Amino acid sequence: MGERRGLFLTFEGTEGSGKTTQMRLLIQHLRAEGYTVTENQEPGATAIGKEIRRILLDPAHSEIAPMTELLLMFASRAQAAAEIIIPALERGEIVVSDRFTDSTLAYQGEARGLSFDTVLQVHRLALNSLLPDLTICIDIDIPTGLARAHHRNQGSRSVKNEARIDQQSLDFHLRVGEGYRKIAAAEPERFRLADGNGNPAEVAERVWREVSPILSRVSPI
Ligand code: TMP
Repeated sequence: MGERRGLFLTFEGTEGSGKTTQMRLLIQHLRAEGYTVTENQEPGATAIGKEIRRILLDPAHSEIAPMTELLLMFASRAQAAAEIIIPALERGEIVVSDRFTDSTLAYQGEARGLSFDTVLQVHRLALNSLLPDLTICIDIDIPTGLARAHHRNQGSRSVKNEARIDQQSLDFHLRVGEGYRKIAAAEPERFRLADGNGNPAEVAERVWREVSPILSRVSPI
C-alpha cells in the first residue's frame, strides 16, 4: 500500500443496534461538511462480496462450519480492501465501513468460539492487519436489538426468511455483545462504544462527538 492519507472509520454493533442508520446519518453529515466519503459494507459491497454474502446469509446453509464462515468473511473483506478501501484511503478520502474485522472477532472469534487469536491470524494474512482509525460500536441491550431486527425483517418484503445469522439463539447474540466488550476493553482509544438508546438524532449526536475530534487528520476535498 502506498502512502495512506485518508481516514478509515467503521461501524459495529449487535443485531438491531441501529448501526446502519447511524452510518447513513454520519455519511450525510460528513458530505455536508465537504468531505469525500466512500462507503463499504461487509460482507458485500463488491460484486464478488455480494455473492459471498448470499452464501453466508442463506438460511439453508445451517451446516456451514465456523472456519468456512470465517474464511468467507475474510474473502469478501480482502476483495473490498483491494477494490474499495485501500484505493480510497490512498486518494485521501474518508472510508466508512458497515462492519469490519471487529465483527469477525465478536461473531466468529467469541460467539462461535474460534478465538480472537485465530481471527487475528487470518486478518494479518488477508488484510495485512489493516485497522480502522476509529470504530463506533452502537451499544444496545441485546433483547431490545433483536426485537428491532425481528420487526425490521417482518416489515421487509424482500427478506422472506430472517437471515441465517439473525436466527441464532439469544445466547449466541449475548456472546457477540461480550466479544465487543472485550475489544472495547483491549482497545479503548480506537474502539468506542456509543449508547444506542434514544432516537436516531440523539444517537447521531453521540457518534458525532466521537468522530469530530479526529477529522483534523483529513481535509475536506
Ligand atoms: P448485517 O446484518 O450488519 O448486514 O451483517 C450481516 C450478518 O453477518 C450479521 O448477522 C453479522 C454477520 N457477520 C459475521 O458473523 N461476521 C463478520 O465478519 C461480518 C462482517 C458479519
